[in-house]
Amino acid sequence: MSDAHLHIAIDGPAAGGKSTVGRRLARRLALRYFDTGAMYRALAYVARRDGIAPADAASLCEEVRRIRVDLESDAPLGFRIFANGAELDEETLHSEAVTSIVSEIAAHAGVREKMVAAQRAIADKHDIVMAGRDIGTVVLPNAQVKVFLTASVAARVERRRVQLEHAGVRARQLAREIEERDRLDRDRAVAPLVPASDAYIIDSSAMSADQVVDAIADIVERTAQRR
Ligand code: CDP
Repeated sequence: MSDAHLHIAIDGPAAGGKSTVGRRLARRLALRYFDTGAMYRALAYVARRDGIAPADAASLCEEVRRIRVDLESDAPLGFRIFANGAELDEETLHSEAVTSIVSEIAAHAGVREKMVAAQRAIADKHDIVMAGRDIGTVVLPNAQVKVFLTASVAARVERRRVQLEHAGVRARQLAREIEERDRLDRDRAVAPLVPASDAYIIDSSAMSADQVVDAIADIVERTAQRR
């Protein structure tokens, strides 16, 4: 991993605001932005589309290479993501069919190995804000700034409800879905959701997205002064 680029890792539980905050922070600091959750969601989409069982790790590993990413910051997601050449939008990535199997798919060691390699290859080339679950712990352990962004379940449910409404996705049983995914992500054997020992932990329950962006931008500035 090169120290040549500025890497900002934002990890945290489901619907904690990583995407909104990450996108705005990247824009403010003129960095690239990538949400690694979109890669796991894209793989879940391919599994649904092609009838691959979420437990079929070998077939899923084969499919990772069909996912492509383009860091185009003006795109609605802040980047573009493709499966077999077809672009996937927020409505597709956040459909219930995808969300309901994504954590099972993301728990396979072989799948993660391939995802992590692809994510490191992206980060090797750019100054970037990267969001996910294991960015500070596994993907970019040398990231100069690591943030673990959390919030109460109630706050996260409300944010996800607004986001899904906006994307045109019908949302049911959001609290249960979010808590179940958190449990699967925390309890898995490989790269479980846990703050890196050197991460700044931010509870954003009572903060606006812009307040969180301000707080992280401050951390980035202080870190830069120390170097
Ligand atoms: O947006 P939300 O917080 O709901 O989830 P996401 O970031 O889109 O990630 C979807 C799922 O992908 C997570 O629940 C994890 O199971 C998995 N994931 C992961 O395992 N590692 C990452 N770096 C990112 C996502």
